[in-house]
Amino acid sequence: MTYKAWGIAAVAVLLFLGSAFVGMVGLVPAEAGAAEKLLVCGPCSGAFLSTASRVVEELGCSDRVVVVRSSCLGPCSQGVVIAFRGEVYSNMTEDLLRTLLEATFSDDTDAKPAN
Ligand code: FES
Repeated sequence: MTYKAWGIAAVAVLLFLGSAFVGMVGLVPAEAGAAEKLLVCGPCSGAFLSTASRVVEELGCSDRVVVVRSSCLGPCSQGVVIAFRGEVYSNMTEDLLRTLLEATFSDDTDAKPAN
């Protein structure tokens, strides 16, 4: 194999691994029928994990949303940080999360709370 062929193969492998990583962390929409990941930043917002799980349970959407601890989502030091459907939300509260999920699943649009 030539150096050029090795280079093309390496780029293909990196693209495959990169797309797998993006899907793994939930930054792209979930496939139809699969529970969507609601990421909670573990390093700065880990205490919100139980709250998020409770809200998901109370709204009866645990078959559609799974709460997952993540690594840093970016806006550190801006209160509770979560990500859902490719959007990162800072200063999240229980009420805002409830509003986000209710809006999302009432009409299943890209409705988002003010942030
Ligand atoms: S540590 Fe939570 S957003 Fe960076």
